[in-house]
Amino acid sequence: MTTLSAPRSAPLPHAPALAINGGTPVFPAAVPFMHTALTQADIDAVNGVLKSGMLRAAKKCEELETRFAAMSDAKHYMTCANGTCALQLAYEPLFERGDDVLVPAWSYVATVSMVVARGGNPIFVDSHQDTMQIDMADAARKITPRTRAIAATHLYGCPVDIDAVQALASKHGLKVVYDAAQAHLSTYKGKGIGAYGDAVTYSYYATKNLGTGEGGAISCNDDALARQIKLLRSHGETDKYLHEQVGYNYRMNDLAGAIGCSKLDRLPADTAIRQQVAAKYDAILAKIDGLKAPTTTPGAVGVYHLYVVKLDTGRFACTRDEFCAALMKEGVPTAVHYPRSLSRQPAFAQFAGKQGHPPIADGLSKQIFALPMHHMLSGDQIAKIGEALDKVASAYRV
Ligand SMILES: Cc1ncc(COP(=O)(O)O)c(C=O)c1O
Repeated sequence: MTTLSAPRSAPLPHAPALAINGGTPVFPAAVPFMHTALTQADIDAVNGVLKSGMLRAAKKCEELETRFAAMSDAKHYMTCANGTCALQLAYEPLFERGDDVLVPAWSYVATVSMVVARGGNPIFVDSHQDTMQIDMADAARKITPRTRAIAATHLYGCPVDIDAVQALASKHGLKVVYDAAQAHLSTYKGKGIGAYGDAVTYSYYATKNLGTGEGGAISCNDDALARQIKLLRSHGETDKYLHEQVGYNYRMNDLAGAIGCSKLDRLPADTAIRQQVAAKYDAILAKIDGLKAPTTTPGAVGVYHLYVVKLDTGRFACTRDEFCAALMKEGVPTAVHYPRSLSRQPAFAQFAGKQGHPPIADGLSKQIFALPMHHMLSGDQIAKIGEALDKVASAYRV
């Protein structure tokens, strides 16, 4: 959440008094940015597992795997400890140490850090100006004889241009991993995202659209790959204390599985509400000069893990952080995903140093902010968020 210093520039004289300057805020108390409360059904589901005493990955994880596979059009679906482990489990069988892997410069750190953990060399690809997703034209320019794979994030819950990813992958014989940590139940061209690529990874971190506290999953459609991922997930064990290969303990547990199954019961309905909230925000933003609603990839249906607005900084006498600080005072919390592009992360300096910084992703880090997004936002709250956006935008617009 942004809590930053007061604006450096005074609001224009005709603007309504901003709360940050002592005016009356739009909301007397801040509207919630997210909603993570458990329902009684979730608590009952966990109690059922507690009473059974079977805490390890068992029936509930299996149920989650079967149901989520069907709902995302994937053949195999394997739960695991978290979304970072999911990436590690997907990457390990699909490329080798020393391979170049195309990665988005604009994503959460894990998409890239697990490439590095695998021994791969991340090649940073810029973002598409409109969708903010990996730009496949830039990806095509960055292919070399050393490129072996593409890691693409369905960022903010919106699928990337999957046709373009798969076309580039087929042309150059590349493996594809989609990071869907934020994109549960999103679709592309009428199919669940589990239908595409070599593997798709998910996170069930507490704040995700389906949050179990910690947790994650990998889906794929290839039997041999699924077997390999299962072996890696649990010490390469093929029979009791028989270890065919070296692996990890990246298993989930049935308490998380129970929460996951219970939340999955209402995920389609909650997702539909997120999509309705997004449509209302789109309509509001269409009338506010200098603010741009997120653009969906053609053919994709996003699930709005985050609703991310772009501020045209040239149109305002304030920075993005100052704009968000003023919104916060009006009772509208925002968040920045992310304050720097991945090529700017110190952790990746040895790779990015030689490549330079993809300019669009760099620019996004200073332009974007996320609005409150969850299934409990009322029409009245959404309208008032619009009022606050308009109020702040009018005050700072030049
Ligand atoms: C795009 C993306 N990838 C990977 C992860 C990692 O997931 P986890 O936190 O479950 O390890 C996250 C979580 O924030 C994410 O947003």
